[in-house]
Amino acid sequence: MSEKVKIFGVCGSARHASTEWAVKLALETAAKYDYVETEFVNLGDYKLVPCVGCMKCFGWQQPADAERPKCYEFEDDSEILLTKMMQSDGVVFGTPIYTLGVTALARIFMEKAHMFGPMSFDKFSGIMRYKPMGVITVGGVDIAGQEVGAQDIWMWAMGLGMTVSGSWPTRDDPNPMASVHGGLVSTCDARTIYGKEALSKKACRTIPPTQGWRNEKSLRNVGRHVAVAAMRCKLANKAFEEGGYEGPEIIPFTRYSVKPKKGSWVQKLMDDGRVEYVSKGKN
Ligand SMILES: Cc1cc2nc3c(=O)[nH]c(=O)nc-3n(C[C@H](O)[C@H](O)[C@H](O)COP(=O)(O)O)c2cc1C
Repeated sequence: MSEKVKIFGVCGSARHASTEWAVKLALETAAKYDYVETEFVNLGDYKLVPCVGCMKCFGWQQPADAERPKCYEFEDDSEILLTKMMQSDGVVFGTPIYTLGVTALARIFMEKAHMFGPMSFDKFSGIMRYKPMGVITVGGVDIAGQEVGAQDIWMWAMGLGMTVSGSWPTRDDPNPMASVHGGLVSTCDARTIYGKEALSKKACRTIPPTQGWRNEKSLRNVGRHVAVAAMRCKLANKAFEEGGYEGPEIIPFTRYSVKPKKGSWVQKLMDDGRVEYVSKGKN
């Protein structure tokens, strides 16, 4: 048992509160397997400038020898955050529910990670493929956007080629849980729903602490399943490579209509004959 996996936990709240607590609980549970290492970030601690759709990260500006992904329009922390994500074997992504959806902060990060997706021509496109993502959505009310927010993140994960990992009940944390699809949890049972650990068992105002107890079970199961899926993915990828099994070459489009910068990644794709330049207006 020599392999290790790194699970990257992301919290999309500007507060150091319930969502952070929830993501950390999932990571702590994952780390109980001795092959797991974890890293946590709270997006509120980083500078993230909203995407303006300049599409400079779509490869035509990115140097062919770029070692890290970054935002080419603004000096922000996309580079730090995307590098951590890229170097991980699995992700636990948590966000509070704001106005029945994910927070603006979570959304900015999701848009910045577009460069890992198939519409981008950049050299890191596809780097998250097959890796697992576990989702945590924290609302103050029961059934008030947790599922819609989670769906947004599930779609995002799928768009990056990732595999969604749920929170199947386990021997250690069996049903009833808050959700089997992931950490879809709420603070409705809490003494104060905006409290720092409002979704936890100990912060519940009811006896027995039903919702908090169910929340915690789902969150721990998210951590377990992402950890195991990450290791299975890593081992399977290795066996696939070593066994010489064939897979497709991934490429977003074969034609491109923006003149790439000299020395850029897209220029390299053109030089290699993988992408053809077609000027705008021509078919
Ligand atoms: C602007 C705003 C909008 C919110 N909208 C919702 C909502 O639509 N549904 C819900 O269940 N909770 C909503 N809440 C409550 C938060 O999701 C809840 O308090 C959550 O625990 C916050 O996460 P945090 O403690 O990690 O900051 C909202 C809170 C704020 C500040």
